[in-house]
Amino acid sequence: MAGDESNGTGHGLSVQAPLQPELVEGMAHENPIVTDVGAGNGATDQEPATAAVLAARLRHLSLSAQTIHADDFLNSHQSVAPPMHVSTTFRYNDDPDELRPWANINPNNPYDSHVYSRDTAPNTTRLEAVLTSILHGPSLTYSSGLSAFHALLVFLNPKRVAIGGGYHGCHGVIQVLSKLTGLQTVDLLDPDFDAALQPGDVVHVETPLNPTGEARDLAFYAERAHRRGCYLTVDATFAPPPLLEPFRWGADVIMHSGTKYFGGHSDMLCGVLAVHPKHAGTWIRGLREERLVLGSVMGSFEGWLGVRSLRTLEVRVRKQSADAAALVAWLEASRKEEDAPSSVVSETVAEVRHASLQVTEKGEREEWLKEQMPNGFGPVFAVYMRDADLARRLPSKLALFHHATSLGGVESLVEWRAMTDAGVDRRLLRFSVGLEGFEDLRDDLVQGFEALRAERAAKGAGAAVVAG
Ligand SMILES: Cc1ncc(COP(=O)(O)O)c(C=O)c1O
Repeated sequence: MAGDESNGTGHGLSVQAPLQPELVEGMAHENPIVTDVGAGNGATDQEPATAAVLAARLRHLSLSAQTIHADDFLNSHQSVAPPMHVSTTFRYNDDPDELRPWANINPNNPYDSHVYSRDTAPNTTRLEAVLTSILHGPSLTYSSGLSAFHALLVFLNPKRVAIGGGYHGCHGVIQVLSKLTGLQTVDLLDPDFDAALQPGDVVHVETPLNPTGEARDLAFYAERAHRRGCYLTVDATFAPPPLLEPFRWGADVIMHSGTKYFGGHSDMLCGVLAVHPKHAGTWIRGLREERLVLGSVMGSFEGWLGVRSLRTLEVRVRKQSADAAALVAWLEASRKEEDAPSSVVSETVAEVRHASLQVTEKGEREEWLKEQMPNGFGPVFAVYMRDADLARRLPSKLALFHHATSLGGVESLVEWRAMTDAGVDRRLLRFSVGLEGFEDLRDDLVQGFEALRAERAAKGAGAAVVAG
């Protein structure tokens, strides 16, 4: 693993003024293009048309403007929609004097140059260009969220990982690595978890958490990790931009299952690692070299789908998050109103969990949480039903929520979580809010709760008849 080659860049990031990621030799998406990139995007012949330059020139480049234009500098064709490239290999220069190992400059667009698609390819490079812009650090894509986590641990090669709860698959990756390297885990929920850590170890924080959608205080964990010479890695899958900016709170690496909100349509697997610019030089090069060996790259079609999906990231995520918060507030209020018309909720629902419900002992929203997630608390929440049978039966009563695992798509999903997580409370249902709209989703839940009540009543009547 590389040492910390910090260039002293601070953590003061914001969406409006993204840090200029350090340029990394050999990365198409990190090289400035200095050819004529056209007047349309505001760059001159002399200036690179990267998103950072566009942001500096326009002074304000919104998240959506970034997701729609951050890859413009890789465009060498007149087509407005990105072309789909299927080639796995790319022709070398005809001039023998121009042949350089692993450098294969494309004369049509030097910054979209490739050798072999296990290293880089046009569609995934475009996706990485947009991710680099919106995550505010050079970003690499992987074949899935778990392969990104695997690549991260292989690269940092810590002796210990502090981790607590969260997505069970990440614990599975650690188990596999423990078999190979003796990697140990430390319980993040132990108040003295950092006492056992040594420099170079990893503190891995998932926020908001799978499956409850509750958030963790990143600044707290960053301080504890850095004090011990450890790295803070953040799985921010549940809070893509504009909900959370982990570098601002001290993350060294951001990880995402891009399968969720970056894909957004339940049709592609994707993993993402974004490296804080202070580590970029050595870390991103090392990660890319190891990805070439591990072979865990995305397919070109997924890269193309990813770019298409990111165009609408901001509008999707803002609405999904707002509708989730409205549903959570409605469920929580209805659960407490035993005599109201919506008491069907209180008959069936025992508890609702979501970051929007996280409060101090005085019932006020945590200060750190307001600052960490100013734009919403995420589209996933959990419901504990009054018993496991109600949790198992509710999904089959719903018309708009598909009963399926995963999250982040435009379609709302509900999962009886015991289907895929053996360790979870069997009363737990995880909801992922899509784009159908609050009223329709609320009404679907009401009719679902009513159907459960009717089913119970019928069973009760049946039992009474038999007993009678
Ligand atoms: C928080 C979190 N991290 C990582 C993953 C793994 O992602 P993938 O399924 O893309 O491998 C998931 C998948 O559900 C997840 O919810």
